[in-house]
Amino acid sequence: RSMAILKEFEEKCGTPTGKLRQVADAMTVEMHAGLASEGGSKLKMLISYVDNLPTGDENGLFYALDLGGTNFRVLRVQLGGKDKRVVSQEFDEVSIPPHLMTRTSDALFDFIAAALAKFVNTEAEGCRPPPGRQRELGFTFSFPVRQLSIASGTLIKWTKGFNIEDAVGEDVVGELTKAMEKIGLDMRVTALVNDTIGTLAGGRYYNQDVIAAVILGTGTNAAYIERAHAIPKWHGLLPKSGEMVINMEWGNFRSSHLPLTEYDQALDTESLNPGEQIFEKLISGMYLGDIVRRVLLKMAEEADFFGDTVPPKLRVPFVLRTPNMSAMHHDTSPDLKVVGSKLKDILEISNTSLKIRKTVVEICDIVATRGARLAAAGILGIIKKLGRDILRDAEKQRSVIALDGGLFEHYTKFSTCMESTLKELLGDEVAETIVIIHSNDGSGIGAALLAASHSQYLGVEE
Ligand code: BG6
Ligand code: GLC
Repeated sequence: RSMAILKEFEEKCGTPTGKLRQVADAMTVEMHAGLASEGGSKLKMLISYVDNLPTGDENGLFYALDLGGTNFRVLRVQLGGKDKRVVSQEFDEVSIPPHLMTRTSDALFDFIAAALAKFVNTEAEGCRPPPGRQRELGFTFSFPVRQLSIASGTLIKWTKGFNIEDAVGEDVVGELTKAMEKIGLDMRVTALVNDTIGTLAGGRYYNQDVIAAVILGTGTNAAYIERAHAIPKWHGLLPKSGEMVINMEWGNFRSSHLPLTEYDQALDTESLNPGEQIFEKLISGMYLGDIVRRVLLKMAEEADFFGDTVPPKLRVPFVLRTPNMSAMHHDTSPDLKVVGSKLKDILEISNTSLKIRKTVVEICDIVATRGARLAAAGILGIIKKLGRDILRDAEKQRSVIALDGGLFEHYTKFSTCMESTLKELLGDEVAETIVIIHSNDGSGIGAALLAASHSQYLGVEE
């Protein structure tokens, strides 16, 4: 019976190439719809107000704040212009106390402002901005924001583990500024960006062929460079560059072609945001482990997979986190020692047989493979939208996609599968022109660079 449950799950999770092509095409269609009008699609295709990407000339001392991944980070970046680039970079990393993710806007922003103040107050003499000059900050806020300008925007909704009602609809820069003023911290946000936008900017700084960025972490999302005249809903001035970076918020993509199972449905219903972020719930680090847990629970309940009682821990949402799933999935020991110890330590299931352990690995494989292949289909959707899925005149243009996020960085089987699926979908010849790079913490540097290019002191002599 448990094998029947497993088999059915595997079938429902299937992502044959044909299906992935349908997903990619649906993504392209939704991209068009989201660009055409506000509310035209589940894909918000948010206008970032970033119409110029870093050139290398950025100069001076800038700060960045990164909120929305596993950790909250504060950075100080000394930029040295073309020849020197990033001269120095220091950062502080703090994890957000979980209770702050669901309380009030004030509580969250007070915490952030305090961390920022601490960072700034311990600064050595030589690392401060010149006298009379305000500290300037790039704020990476990794949630959907309707930008009002490059340095302001209102929160559309929370995603991932956050849910603070009174912040929705508020200008997040206003909230941060208020919190900084309360404690007398004199700093100004000159750029508000999503992590995908920061990663794109950071990637572009080192590699001019970067055209898109994808985050595979706690959540998942993508941003890319669009031609401004291909954005019918943009009524502002046509940017000089003719380009505008779009934050797709692809986590909210959905399509009848997505291979959804009863476990995904239950996960969604019981989540903080039912009906939302369906693509994200199939792919990203916050959810993969919990899908595995749900399958194991069903096998325990209906087929006595772990003996005649259901291990109580299996009923606890999110106990099985994706890093643990990854550790089990990568276990190469002959007796699957790691799987055995994870089952024991996390789920309090002792003395598991090799057969049980093998089945657990198989479930991890099914869940990770589906997520990775769908992520590749999403990337194909962007490449198609840009018309880079076809080689024109054999003129080999290179398209570089900057990736970041804990899932991509640490879950090797996931990233390997994602990359090989993308190759499979593109075909050998085109695949040669599409390059994936890991832009390690590109979003922090990216935010600092965008803070620099939107500085209030531009054109003012140092
Ligand atoms: C980091 C970026 O490397 O990846 C963040 O700097 C981003 O901006 C994060 O939010 C996402 O990864 P995770 O795994 O921390 O959610
Ligand atoms: C979620 C957020 C999105 C962010 C992504 C990756 O999908 O809504 O803004 O980019 O997570 O961190």
